[in-house]
Amino acid sequence: VYKEREELFSLNKLAARFYNYLLTETNMGEKALKYLNDRGFTKKDINKFNLGYAADEWQLLLNFLKKKNFSLHLIKKAGLISEGKNNSYYDKFRNRVMFPIFNNRGEVIAFGGRILESEDNYGPKYLNSPETKIFSKKKNLYGLHLAKDSIRKANSCIIMEGYTDVIQAHKNGFENSIASLGTAFTEEQAKLIKRYAENAYIAYDADTAGNKATLRGLDILNELGINVKVIELEEGSDPDQLLKQEGPNVFNDYLEKAVSLIDFKINMIVKDKNLSEPGSRKKILRSIIELLSEVEDDLEREIYIERAALKTNFKENVLAQEVEKEFKKNR
Ligand code: UTP
Ligand code: MN
Ligand code: MN
Ligand code: MN
Ligand code: MN
Repeated sequence: VYKEREELFSLNKLAARFYNYLLTETNMGEKALKYLNDRGFTKKDINKFNLGYAADEWQLLLNFLKKKNFSLHLIKKAGLISEGKNNSYYDKFRNRVMFPIFNNRGEVIAFGGRILESEDNYGPKYLNSPETKIFSKKKNLYGLHLAKDSIRKANSCIIMEGYTDVIQAHKNGFENSIASLGTAFTEEQAKLIKRYAENAYIAYDADTAGNKATLRGLDILNELGINVKVIELEEGSDPDQLLKQEGPNVFNDYLEKAVSLIDFKINMIVKDKNLSEPGSRKKILRSIIELLSEVEDDLEREIYIERAALKTNFKENVLAQEVEKEFKKNR
């Protein structure tokens, strides 16, 4: 079993090198290279993150790996091929920009592959390796092998959604950035972060999926005792887009304006709601009262009552009364 893990590491390493070669050295990779360059990713970024390209062919990687004496059994175990009819196999990743996923020791454990925007390709925007002996999505963080020293030094990390967010962040000097591999943040990932830092910023996409994931991530991190804040981006944006359009100084302004867990939750309760219609106003206030009654510290509770009153334009003393009532009920 130990040997198989080692073999999977070396197979993945070779596959990553093959994809990188196709991207940087062949005609086949030209379109993908142009795509990355157009998005602002240079040779340096491509090298640092070992990006690649999976060609628009059915068995290019499979034949290459076989020629390198890897068994079909192992290539299957690595999740790099799919099974077709009559015991035939074909490359799982085709015509995609490839993002190798590393463990914190820098070994390639899986891949994410992005569809090229110009193509009328089918399939999901990003295709990821399946769970394997060496890859558990919920136990890893994209970019951690490159970020861990910075995270330790800064005693904080920035948690993003995607591969491109992390690459763009590192490029712009935010080298303590990592991604949770999609929007599902797990307790295992929080524990991994806790090894290196006491503080975390969540910088998920400012859309419905991102907000939901932020709420979940906040609670998970908070429960582990990590001091966590939320970077609130403009609606529809993500860190890659903001950094590319506005640069590192503006991103840093957002970082400095990051809000606390309670503030973010109040913002989410109020967001896009009708604050004047009595029915919806009552529901909003109820949710806020519920939320604030969970705040243990008296002074902190008072501070948030004040802020929530301002945000909802509601009488502070009445809100305070209701929160205290609920607070006592919870004891
Ligand atoms: P996003 O949809 O926000 O993509 O997904 P992105 O990172 O901004 O990518 P670009 O800018 O369009 O290229 C965030 C992350 O969620 C995972 C990927 O890890 C992605 O980076 N994801 C997304 C998937 O695994 N599958 C999908 O189909 C989409
Ligand atoms: Mn997203
Ligand atoms: Mn995004
Ligand atoms: Mn994006
Ligand atoms: Mn007051």
